[in-house]
Amino acid sequence: AENMLWGGRFTQGLDPLMVQYNTSLPYDRLFYAQDIAGSIAFARANLKGGILSQDEFNAIEKGFEQIREEWRTNSFVVQENDEDIHTANERRLSEVIGKEIGGKLHTGRSRNEQVATDMRLWLREELRRIEGWLEDLIKVAVSRSEAEIDALMPGYTHLQKAQPVRWSHWLLSHATAFSLELERLREVIKRVNRSPLGCGALAGNPFKIDREAMAKELGFDGLLYNSMNAVGDRDFAFETLQWGSSFMLKISRWAEDLIIYSSLEFGFVRLADAYSTGSSLMPQKKNADSLELLRGKSGRAFGHMAGLYCTIKGLPTTYNKDLQESVEPLIDHIKTVGDSIQIATGVLSTLTIHPEKMLAALAPEMLATEFADYLVRKGVPFREGHYISGRVVALAENEGVPMDKLSLEQLKGVDPRLGDDVVECLDYERAVELKDATGGTSKSAIREQIVILKKILARN
Ligand code: ARG
Repeated sequence: AENMLWGGRFTQGLDPLMVQYNTSLPYDRLFYAQDIAGSIAFARANLKGGILSQDEFNAIEKGFEQIREEWRTNSFVVQENDEDIHTANERRLSEVIGKEIGGKLHTGRSRNEQVATDMRLWLREELRRIEGWLEDLIKVAVSRSEAEIDALMPGYTHLQKAQPVRWSHWLLSHATAFSLELERLREVIKRVNRSPLGCGALAGNPFKIDREAMAKELGFDGLLYNSMNAVGDRDFAFETLQWGSSFMLKISRWAEDLIIYSSLEFGFVRLADAYSTGSSLMPQKKNADSLELLRGKSGRAFGHMAGLYCTIKGLPTTYNKDLQESVEPLIDHIKTVGDSIQIATGVLSTLTIHPEKMLAALAPEMLATEFADYLVRKGVPFREGHYISGRVVALAENEGVPMDKLSLEQLKGVDPRLGDDVVECLDYERAVELKDATGGTSKSAIREQIVILKKILARN
């Protein structure tokens, strides 16, 4: 056990399966650059604090530059006792620059603060990339909604034809949901980007380390102010998993809509070949696999969130090895969410719409509310207007004709207040343009929504 980093008090080696069971290097090697940056910042702080001489610091920094290159070029040779990225890097440093200096690096430091630092540094960059991808997705929705503002389609409640809306309105309904996720994400990034470095194993640092300077060097926005909290807390992982789950929930519903709209029965949209696949048996098939995977992978994202809650809920304060189990789910979650956003953007930017199919799916019954609103404008209480319009729908049903094929006489027979001008109610475009209060589906209201989204995208 003497070649283990913590070997001093141990007399026997580890069970070989325990070695495998314990190691996190297969996945936390992803953090090699963050781990090295954190080590250099820590060494620099110990230089200022008089723990390291300038020569010693220079040797450490140079040694790490070589090690970083080894990782980058895939020539770093992992050894059996490299438990995790922290031990691997430190072991290698002592090989490269000698134990005399290498052995000083960890003065006052714990892997507990290192792993929290590495994860936050890595996550910060990943989330910033995701922020950019999410902005791209919203941009595509916004620009389509501008270009295709004339297309009308059925709006649904309970997946039943409800009222006509603009296709752009559907696009922006999801873009708005995504923009709320974007705002949440920006908040999450702020809290992820706080530094635990200089907190030690749990109790703090005894060598007057300048935590502010280390945080600044590493690009953190600030410090975590309690060392026990800093090493034992995985809020930043929770918040990320919650955020990712919330986003995946939104993208899953968006995907479900498009799966329906791309079916032959609807035919409102057609996916590009790049995001569809065929069937091995049925030659005619073109399946929306991209969308189904978006829907399916959301379950996996939620699972990681629930899993981490279960892992952490009963832990005593500060670091416990259970926390190592927060790393893999987080990495997988980030990959899932990041890929999903880019796939969604690909799907949305390449699909074609069929406005004529959307129009054909509109049914005159979707204008029944217009009849009630027409009567309201003639001074009829809405409840009564609703009843009268319902009688019109029932009449059409009994006659076996669509509502717009009833004669004026038939309409007047239902209620004499349905005058000659009632035919104006049968105009889809008019119905849509009447919804011009903020948030509605008229052109002006849609343009208002676009302005708001563009502001959020411009980060102000
Ligand atoms: N690899 C560990 C993790 O991911 C950090 C090591 C801290 N381990 C320890 N026994 N103090 O959590």
